[in-house]
Amino acid sequence: MKGIIFRGLEELVVKTHDITVWEKLMEKHAPAERVYVSAKNYPDDELFALAQEVAVVVDKPLSDILRTFGEFLFAYLTQKHGEILVQFEDFSSLIMGIDTVIHAEVAKLYHEPNLPQIHCEKIDERNILMFYRSNRKLCFCAEGLINGAASYYQMNISIDHQKCMHEGEQECTLLLTFEEKEHGKINR
Ligand code: HEM
Ligand SMILES: [Zn+2]
Repeated sequence: MKGIIFRGLEELVVKTHDITVWEKLMEKHAPAERVYVSAKNYPDDELFALAQEVAVVVDKPLSDILRTFGEFLFAYLTQKHGEILVQFEDFSSLIMGIDTVIHAEVAKLYHEPNLPQIHCEKIDERNILMFYRSNRKLCFCAEGLINGAASYYQMNISIDHQKCMHEGEQECTLLLTFEEKEHGKINR
């Protein structure tokens, strides 16, 4: 996993707790003198161990931590990569462009990134079916990223995680139902 993801986690922990909490996590789960460089690769297990420890510290399930992290990560990544968001006119086109535009660009900017396979089908103006596949099984993080994007575009969204790799499926299926906030709550 790229250093930029670890740095995002660090920023979240420092913002919600403080630097000493992050230092303790690092002492426990990272090699001595570890410094995360955005463009470099680090072991996935290191990220999982750190995220798992955050779950212990805040006493919440790992899935919740990954969702919160994903949501924060969307703002963090788009701030670091200012050129990404200007390419999309709305929430729906961003979601449709994750694989073909956003991660395709990431693959050019970063050396050998480990990206998930994300495929989207637009059902209608308010519904997109997303298929997620990755041996890192970070689908809860994907949910958070989607929520982060929805919040950026001021959309109400609900995510129905219909099939999940954590339940033995080959890929996850997420039904996204969304509408602009001014239209009020989503009726499902
Ligand atoms: C809603 C939008 C997005 C979704 C659902 C999404 C999904 C994900 C997920 C789930 C991962 C973790 C790796 C895995 O699952 O195997 C990931 C990795 C990554 N994504 Fe995205 N992403 C989104 C937007 C973005 C944006 C806006 C950027 C900005 C540059 C970005 C850049 C990256 C990078 C750099 C990685 C790490 C690759 C590595 O560690 O080698 N993503 N993405
Ligand atoms: Zn899943």
